[in-house]
Amino acid sequence: MSSEQLFKPFSLKSLNIKNRIVMAPMTRSFSPDGVPTEEVASYYSRRAAGQVGLILSEGTVIDRPSSSNDANVPHFHGEKALEGWKKVIDDVHAEGGSMGPQIWHMGVMYNHHSGWTPAVPFEGPSEYNNPNLANGRAMTETDIQDTILAFGRAAADAKRLGFDCVEIHGAHGYLIDQFFWEATNNRTDQYGGKTIAERSRFAIEVIKEVRKQVGEDFTIIMRLSQWKPADYDFKLTKTPEEMASWLVPMAEAGVDIFHCSQRRFWEPEFEGSDLNFAGWAKKLTGKATITVGSVGLNGEFLAAFAGESSQPSSLDELIRRFDRGDFDLVAVGRPILADPNWVKKIHDNKTEELVGFSKEALGALL
Ligand SMILES: Cc1cc2nc3c(=O)[nH]c(=O)nc-3n(C[C@H](O)[C@H](O)[C@H](O)COP(=O)(O)O)c2cc1C
Repeated sequence: MSSEQLFKPFSLKSLNIKNRIVMAPMTRSFSPDGVPTEEVASYYSRRAAGQVGLILSEGTVIDRPSSSNDANVPHFHGEKALEGWKKVIDDVHAEGGSMGPQIWHMGVMYNHHSGWTPAVPFEGPSEYNNPNLANGRAMTETDIQDTILAFGRAAADAKRLGFDCVEIHGAHGYLIDQFFWEATNNRTDQYGGKTIAERSRFAIEVIKEVRKQVGEDFTIIMRLSQWKPADYDFKLTKTPEEMASWLVPMAEAGVDIFHCSQRRFWEPEFEGSDLNFAGWAKKLTGKATITVGSVGLNGEFLAAFAGESSQPSSLDELIRRFDRGDFDLVAVGRPILADPNWVKKIHDNKTEELVGFSKEALGALL
């Protein structure tokens, strides 16, 4: 099968990209005191030179006193950090690339192995990161309002600095997802509730504020996952109807593209259909979607953290789904982390030059 279709351009509002391949957001923790360095700018611009269509930055945290558990995760606020990001986007554009920051609040977290902790306790819908870990405090309504505004300011800064789009991190058990998940959201105010639709209120208010700050023409991507780091098999929504009650209000609030995080893109979301999460999200909302999860590799990413290596694998199943129209864009994580020229090699059909992924690649900005 040919990968030619993946090299058609894609345009949506402010986003105009040369192919359908997206670099997945990947935390690298190479930004001391939250400031992206020259090395970080070079790391991303090498991916632009390597023909990545859209680069999504590693998660970069918004302006709340405990939005991060790691001193080396970049900030998306403050003069120095934003200067660092300005260099990143200018360098990426100079190589002909496109990029959006992934704006992030980690919510209630475990303490980082470095021993660094923020000056104030972690915050979330409750004190829980997952049913087995309470390590923070429940946000007041004032905290919630301030956090919504901080997401909006980060998005406005993304636009002002010249980024092509912004991605809101609503996945993987972090703050926004802690509101979605009944195990971490036991609130009795309007941000809690028995249904996923009720527990989506916080996300919807964040999306509306972001939309208000960036205007109609700036592309907003929302990243979501059914799974949680504490429970890989968990599903926030168990039927297409329930998924629609989660996604449609977010689409109406201003999301342009849903970035549907799975560990393995080929796994069906619900019984009775082989559609994956991105396939269902597109079908239910009519919005563009991004799929992700072990594209071009034979092992998944959480196993990679435990030291498992992965070898290159065929793109045939991905292309079959893409040709069927299940999704618009394809995010690729580890292969592009390990090799800035992954996209070029796929384009030129140089599969014998693909390197796969091993944990050592995490140790440096290759
Ligand atoms: C080192 C590393 C860091 C990651 N950090 C983030 C992150 O900051 N934000 C996020 O949404 N996902 C993060 N992820 C998940 C990836 O975006 C992606 O969904 C996952 O790696 C699956 O894609 P892959 O199989 O192509 O690697 C990270 C993954 C890796 C390997």
